[in-house]
Amino acid sequence: MDLIKGIETRRSIRAFTNTPVPEETLRKIIKAASNSPSYTNTQPWEVAVGCGKRKEDLSRIIRDLAVRKAEISPDFPMPKTWPAEHVTRTKEHGTRRLAALGVDRDDEVGRENLRLMNFEFYGGPCAIFLFMDGTLGEWSVFDMGLFAQNLTLAAVAFGVESCLQASVTIYAREIKKFLEVPESMKLMICISLGYPDNEAKLNTYRAVKRTPDEFTKWYR
Ligand SMILES: Cc1cc2nc3c(=O)[nH]c(=O)nc-3n(C[C@H](O)[C@H](O)[C@H](O)COP(=O)(O)O)c2cc1C
Repeated sequence: MDLIKGIETRRSIRAFTNTPVPEETLRKIIKAASNSPSYTNTQPWEVAVGCGKRKEDLSRIIRDLAVRKAEISPDFPMPKTWPAEHVTRTKEHGTRRLAALGVDRDDEVGRENLRLMNFEFYGGPCAIFLFMDGTLGEWSVFDMGLFAQNLTLAAVAFGVESCLQASVTIYAREIKKFLEVPESMKLMICISLGYPDNEAKLNTYRAVKRTPDEFTKWYR
């Protein structure tokens, strides 16, 4: 697939069919992502791939925690404030996603159901968890982002769609326990993957993007 086409067509998918992604395809996607750049080639990423029964078991555990609103243990603190402009965008994002489902912003049950879908990996047959050593700092976080982006783009080339999910990382402690990942590692992100359910209402939602002229200054 053409690189630009892949970049421009990638979008977050929040409803997947239950068709499994062949392990060979997942290996090719991860192999492509392994070529990501990193600070002095440190390659901080450690990858856990959850599929089949193990993924279902993990989903049950974290969904149950989410339903009970159990104590959270994210390795990266959740943002508490945003600049006003970002608040506008995040609110618009939330409203548009709910609208795609036909759920009103005041509908607490509808909102809660949407939140819980995160912990079901949006029905995806596969959930990938990216970890890094707990002693690493911001530059490694940057590297992890590059890896995650390359992974999601490589997936597109194989017809596999994805959703990055910080929300899932709130239960980092339990996820690490389940995956037998040392407590000292940091869970950066969860990525749900699969084939898109093109009939699903939630997938009709498109994020509104700033135009390059809104965020680019040229110095000539
Ligand atoms: C770091 C990060 C965390 C995210 N966490 C979530 C999440 O927990 N749940 C979710 O549904 N989408 C999540 N997303 C997806 C964003 O909402 C999405 O990328 C954004 O709205 C732009 O839409 P697009 O990916 O379709 O271009 C996350 C994206 C990033 C980069």
